Formats: sequence, structure tokens, C-alpha cells
Amino acid sequence: MSRQAIKVENLYKHFGKDESFVDVIQDASFSINKGELVALVAPSGAGKTTLLLMIGCVENPSSGKIWLGDEKVYDNKWLTGETRKIRREKIGFIFQSHYLIPFLNIIDNLTLLPQTNGTSDKVAQAKARELLKYFEISDKEKAMPSQLSGGQNQRVAIARALANNPQIILADEPTAALDMQRSVDVIKMLKKIALEQDVAIVMVTHDDRMLPYCDKIMKIENKTIIFE
Ligand SMILES: Nc1ncnc2c1ncn2[C@@H]1O[C@H](COP(=O)(O)OP(=O)(O)OP(=O)(O)O)[C@@H](O)[C@H]1O
Ligand SMILES: [Mg+2]
Repeated sequence: MSRQAIKVENLYKHFGKDESFVDVIQDASFSINKGELVALVAPSGAGKTTLLLMIGCVENPSSGKIWLGDEKVYDNKWLTGETRKIRREKIGFIFQSHYLIPFLNIIDNLTLLPQTNGTSDKVAQAKARELLKYFEISDKEKAMPSQLSGGQNQRVAIARALANNPQIILADEPTAALDMQRSVDVIKMLKKIALEQDVAIVMVTHDDRMLPYCDKIMKIENKTIIFE
């Protein structure tokens, strides 16, 4: 098994055609290893979310190749009939807002997806409790999201992203709604997850103060990917 978590080769992405044509990514090639926390930095509209969604098998590239782990998943077309299956087996998503389900308590928010994937209630709950313990919010198991602080909810959202033991976590501005201290807490937590669980994390951030905590800085410049 190699250390490779994500590999992208000659990736292109445009939207629309004629007057609505937007060229977003041109000929991007890069790879990211397991255990790395990578910051993705670029101006608004540069294509950060689009790139995450292509790696996450949500958005179709225009052309190119993508590997997740050692598995080639895209070669000018998806190589599997079910991109949903790759997503739920390999990838965890974290967004700017926590998107917890407001009418489910914390533990039910964590077990929902694994249960939908066919994991038994018992196994899903044991995993959820393990994650809540890891994130030091075990006492909130029965609480509703509205009863938690912004930082606590974001920790639950990160826990949820880990519930399916993903190899890759894609985080789109996970700290945008948090103050400086909470943001640093979240980044340190992501760093710890990357190291301890050997997960590759790609995190979009607009906050330069978060960069020292990341292993690598990836930028979109002139529609392609460069590393700093
Ligand atoms: N579904 C779509 N249809 C047409 N154009 C789109 C679509 N999604 C994104 N775009 C365009 O692609 C470009 C990149 O958008 P994207 O959302 O990836 O930027 P971003 O770097 O995430 O920006 P931000 O920092 O504001 O979130 C933008 O010009 C946007 O208008
Ligand atoms: Mg975006």
C-alpha cells in the first residue's frame, strides 16, 4: 500500500458554454499523502469548492484523472457506476456551517449516516460514543444542536465526518463561523486526526492565521494548482 491518498492528473473543469462559459481549473496535477493536513487557499471564485467537490466525487470534472487511495476513480469518466458508494466509503465532508439536523440529538446526528449505509444500530452507536469521547463532548450525547455552542457543534460535525472511517476529509472553510480561539482549536483537532488516523485532510481557509498549523499550502493560481 502506498502513502497516496489523493492523486490528480491533468484535471480540467469548466462550466457552461458560449456566453456562460467559465473556465475554472486547467491542467491541475498534484498528489496528497495520508496523514497530511493541506490548506487550500485562493481568492473567492477561484474554484476551491469546485475542486473539493470533484475530489469528493460530487462534481463531474471536464477531463483528467483522479485516484482516491490507490483506486483510480475518474479517467475522463467515473470508473464506477456509483459515485455515492465511493463518497460514503472513503470521504468525510465538513462545511462552513455544521449542518447538523436540528430535530435530532447529537448521537442520532452521528449515527444517521452510518445507519443509512447499513451499519447496525449497535455498531453505529458504539462508534458515535467513541468519537464523542475523542472530541470531549460525551456529556452532550442527548443534547440537541441548538443547546450546543458554535464550536461544540463544529466538533460534532467533524465527528460526523469521521463516522464512516474515511481515508479523506474535505473541509470547506470549517472555521469561517468561529472566533480565533475556536478556529485554532478546530485546526489543531484536524491536525491530530490527520496524524492519529492517517487521514488526508484538504481544508479551504481564508484565514492566514491557520496556515502555520497545516503541513502544506495548496493554491489555485492561473487556474492551476501550485504548492507553496
Ligand atoms: N454549478 C455551477 N455552474 C456554473 N458556474 C459555476 C458553478 N459552480 C461554480 N461556478 C463558477 O465556478 C467558479 C468557481 O466557483 P467556486 O465556488 O469553486 O469558487 P470558490 O473558490 O469556492 O469561491 P469562494 O471562496 O467564494 O467560496 C466561479 O466563477 C463560479 O461562478
Ligand atoms: Mg467556495
